[in-house]
Amino acid sequence: MVVENNVPLQALNTFHIVARAQQMVRIASLADAQAVLQDAHLAAQPKFVLGGGSNLVLTGDVKPLVLKVEVMGCALVQETPKAYIVEAGAGENWHDFVAWTLAQGLPGLENMALIPGTVGAAPVQNIGAYGVELQDVFDSLDALDLRSGEVFTLDAARCAFGYRDSVFKHDSGMGLKDRALILKVRFALPKVWKPVLGYADIEKMRQQEGVQTPNAQQIFDWVCRIRRAKLPDPAVVGNAGSFFKNPTVSSEQCADIIARDPKVVHYRLDNGSYKLAAGWLIDACGWRGKSVGQAGVYEKQALVLVNRGQGSQGATGGEVMTLARAIQTSVYERFGLMLETEPVVL
Ligand code: EPU
Repeated sequence: MVVENNVPLQALNTFHIVARAQQMVRIASLADAQAVLQDAHLAAQPKFVLGGGSNLVLTGDVKPLVLKVEVMGCALVQETPKAYIVEAGAGENWHDFVAWTLAQGLPGLENMALIPGTVGAAPVQNIGAYGVELQDVFDSLDALDLRSGEVFTLDAARCAFGYRDSVFKHDSGMGLKDRALILKVRFALPKVWKPVLGYADIEKMRQQEGVQTPNAQQIFDWVCRIRRAKLPDPAVVGNAGSFFKNPTVSSEQCADIIARDPKVVHYRLDNGSYKLAAGWLIDACGWRGKSVGQAGVYEKQALVLVNRGQGSQGATGGEVMTLARAIQTSVYERFGLMLETEPVVL
């Protein structure tokens, strides 16, 4: 086990915010993680598990011990009557894993192409895009309990998935926040695959391409094209994807907002409530393209905050959070809704 000191984190977070980890250990295997827990000094320290750093705002140097997850490997591990079970190391890049499954002839993840981050971070957020969420294809995961040192396996029910939410984000009750180090994740990919269409952007692409029933590779390519057209590439412009969650409101609240703003983008949910497009709400408040210091609101999608500079000339976490709070205040003043932030703020 190697403990690295004073490690620059700029390349390890997709906002490319300049900050350092006081101490960091790279975890390539269960044995690496256990070695940390067997070291009395390291075991006693607060810990922060870092995946791809794609859902993170660093507001200063990181004091907890950073565990950088680098557990690798992808394999087809099992077959059930209905599904192929594939397993990936938590450190695998999510998009590369999606591409790998398709190369193996195993569709099911294509709608979630190009989501930044690692496989291990995907269940924490219950990532989703274009009508598919991780929970729809999740089988189980293995994790190390950083308190007890036990390895445990969780199925979907015990992960308590919600919209961009899971047991790994909560610290009360059965919550596992800052406690579980996810090592491996398994996915159940259907043997009888059907394309998930229906999202407006995908439907537009299908018509434009004149394809009746697309295959998984076509959907993968379309999703990549749609995302590249409207979301910034973190390798070029620092960002953490959607910065806020789309809020859910009651039908009365929704009717009230529509009465004032007939164009508000809203979707009816199965339980009768409505989801509003946070990007639209922010846009309607005039934030698209605005900045605080070097932190800005992306021109093509107001739900995404970006770092307009590079390195020490770039945005600080403080600027990003000042901008985020100003957006929350103006959306609240106009629509009476407090937007919830998505990324982890450290
Ligand atoms: N809109 C505007 N102005 C804007 C941005 C959006 O009017 O500046 C409108 C769009 O025209 C559209 C609606 O808002 O009618 C929704 O926009 P979009 O289709 O881009 O999706 P979203 O709700 O903003 C969500 C996810 C994305 C995911 C897409 C596609 C959340 C918080 N975000 O975005 O996920 O890729 O749907 O499924 O649920 C992420 O979580 O990091 C992420 C990128």
